[in-house]
Amino acid sequence: MVDDAAASPSAAPLASEWDVVVVGSGAAGLMTCLELPQGLRVLLLSKSSEPPSASRWAQGGIAAVTRADDSFESHIADTLRAGAGLCDRPAVEMLVREAPACVERLLSLGMAFDRNGEELSTTLEAAHSHRRVLHAQDRTGGALVDALEREVLHRPALVLRKGMPALQLWIEAGCCVGLQVLDGDRLRWLRCGAVVLACGGGGHLFAHTTNPSQASGDGVAMAWDAGARLRDLEFVQFHPTCLFHPEAQTFLISEALRGEGAVVVNAQGQDFTRKTDPRGSLAPRDILARAIDEEMKESGAACVYLDIRSRGSEFLGQRFPEITATLRKLGIDPARQPIPVVPAAHYQCGGVQAKLNGVTSLPGLLALGEVACTGLHGANRLASNSLLEALVMAHEAAEHLPQTLPGSDGGVKLPAWKEGKAHDADELVVITHNWREIRQLMWDYVGIARTNKRILRAQSRLQLLLQEVQEFYWDFRVTPDLLELRNLALCSALIVESALRRHESRGLNANADYPGLAKVAKDTVIRAGEI
Ligand code: SIN
Repeated sequence: MVDDAAASPSAAPLASEWDVVVVGSGAAGLMTCLELPQGLRVLLLSKSSEPPSASRWAQGGIAAVTRADDSFESHIADTLRAGAGLCDRPAVEMLVREAPACVERLLSLGMAFDRNGEELSTTLEAAHSHRRVLHAQDRTGGALVDALEREVLHRPALVLRKGMPALQLWIEAGCCVGLQVLDGDRLRWLRCGAVVLACGGGGHLFAHTTNPSQASGDGVAMAWDAGARLRDLEFVQFHPTCLFHPEAQTFLISEALRGEGAVVVNAQGQDFTRKTDPRGSLAPRDILARAIDEEMKESGAACVYLDIRSRGSEFLGQRFPEITATLRKLGIDPARQPIPVVPAAHYQCGGVQAKLNGVTSLPGLLALGEVACTGLHGANRLASNSLLEALVMAHEAAEHLPQTLPGSDGGVKLPAWKEGKAHDADELVVITHNWREIRQLMWDYVGIARTNKRILRAQSRLQLLLQEVQEFYWDFRVTPDLLELRNLALCSALIVESALRRHESRGLNANADYPGLAKVAKDTVIRAGEI
């Protein structure tokens, strides 16, 4: 049942008690709702009506071993290698081995993967040693979310509320027992047996990103406030090839283009990428994004180019219809000219520390998909492992959750909350200013190439900003924008803290003051009260 609070002011009143509240309606959230036992009362929250989730924007695909010439060992080895020595091997093994069953499940739901005759069609992406990425043209995420939504929305005892952001978790005696939401302009507490965070990452912490605008680090911020442990937040993945165009600043040019022969070149048409890695344009993302960043800094160029002219118009139109159409609308014909691209923040490899079934350090709180850190990605995620992780985790969580749900205890005593009243237009402008400032300073000082001085500069500015934002948060009536700003500021400060703790260059954390690798690969784990 869809109950769109934002679209319809007369939406039915929302019950105050649920078995499970799922925050986020991307792949992880939808799959959890689908797999939970039918009798449970499930509330699925989506913070905005539009734009869609990051899952829906995923172009590339889902990595899974489906071909006879591929093997689990090879997928495991590629994931470990891309993760730069920090992956949790058991997590990697489990995910890789579960992948074919996950694909079967998607097929049973009508997921329209591309085929070559009877066979599922597979593509290559960077750092994979086999063609193992299943895809639905260049809108795999869209096809996936469509397939999941078709099923989920018929589920009895499920309510989907769009336009209802979650503010904070409700903690009692060290357990998560519910959460606070923004219902129109009213704050409400909802009690539940478990909260599942499936609300994605924080691409919008950075000035340039491939993520939709709701990726503001909400899950990490809420979990941190509630006292959950966070892991490896310093590893922010920058996708090497985001379109460089003023009218489409978050548009991704899928890595699958490089898998099909596209090459990254500079303005002179030279392939500079082999200077740093013999795999060139198919090197892991951390390495390629750094090579592009260095090339742009050395040459002063505003972008580099992705050249796929070798594949011709017909192939591009069939295999990458959305990318080709979007580019042509912007006056770029990829069959005739190289595509201008820049690296941009794409994926949060760290997050709320969680097991593969989503269980976090806080009883009653689960975290799934990008908001979680299971150890699968280590210091750098292998392409197309993320939708897989979201789906497998959701499946595991839905199996685990019913055994842990407490019965309803009747009388609910709501926690105290002082609701700010003021609405000062002059002051609200500051929200936009602070938002821009944080995103720019994270990009400038905590981006692809880091130094201690830059990170410390970010830290001192963020301290002031965070203080200002917290004052707003408590004194003013909370709006979705203020809530996002507060999450953005907090999450940025946590990334900075994590980056300062890592005294090495590993994977996505490249710090010129610590150019080497530490002897032992260790996770960065932080928890409220410890910093
Ligand atoms: C892409 O299509 O390049 C993105 C795939 C991913 O992030 O795994």
